Amino acid sequence: DGPRPLAGRHVLVTSGPTHEPIDPVRFIANRSSGRQGHAIAGALAALGARVTLVSGPVAVPDPAGVAVVRVETARQMLVACEAALPADAAVCAAAVADWRTAREAGQKMKKVPGEAPPPLELALNPDILALLSAHAARPPLVVGFAAETENVVENAVAKRARKGCDWIVANDVSGDVMGGAENAVHLVSAAGVEDWPRMPKEQVAARLAARVAEHFA
Ligand code: C5P
Repeated sequence: DGPRPLAGRHVLVTSGPTHEPIDPVRFIANRSSGRQGHAIAGALAALGARVTLVSGPVAVPDPAGVAVVRVETARQMLVACEAALPADAAVCAAAVADWRTAREAGQKMKKVPGEAPPPLELALNPDILALLSAHAARPPLVVGFAAETENVVENAVAKRARKGCDWIVANDVSGDVMGGAENAVHLVSAAGVEDWPRMPKEQVAARLAARVAEHFA
């Protein structure tokens, strides 16, 4: 076993998509696989951290040595994250649904021949990253992700300020990143912008975990 620089530290990680119910059999979701967030949780644990991984519905296996809390909706994810505090660091890698349905139908919505499709009214979900960044028990290090398809770095710099987090891991998701095995990211912090080469998600995770360890060293 290698060195454990994060021994004694607690890190909260969010991962995966959220599912926002429309009715008992339908939901709104997105293409997040949880691969990157789960790899980060595993990499932090490998460096000795106690990791609480709050995960939306994913097919990837639980990382070794990590406490996993499974949730479905954004609101459940927020409750689970707040319950996990205090933490030394939070890494919000989940693709939280921006919107949920304004009302969840209690019964399966029926398709009535000849009738128009029902309108889908949406409501804004809580922004977990922003809430953790402004929390009374704010983790000293808060890291967010920015999945963008254009102006990746500019958007990430603005997002870092808007969300109030310390670092943003910015990735270009216009290609095969979502659900894919590799990621090309930029690390945006108060110190500036670092461009990391395209590499497997496990390596992005290991490098980010090492940076977290350096931060606390
Ligand atoms: O605003 P946007 O969704 O682009 O921000 C992405 C970052 O914010 C990610 O770190 C994601 O985990 C987090 N986020 C969140 N709760 C939301 C929306 C995004 O924690 N409702």
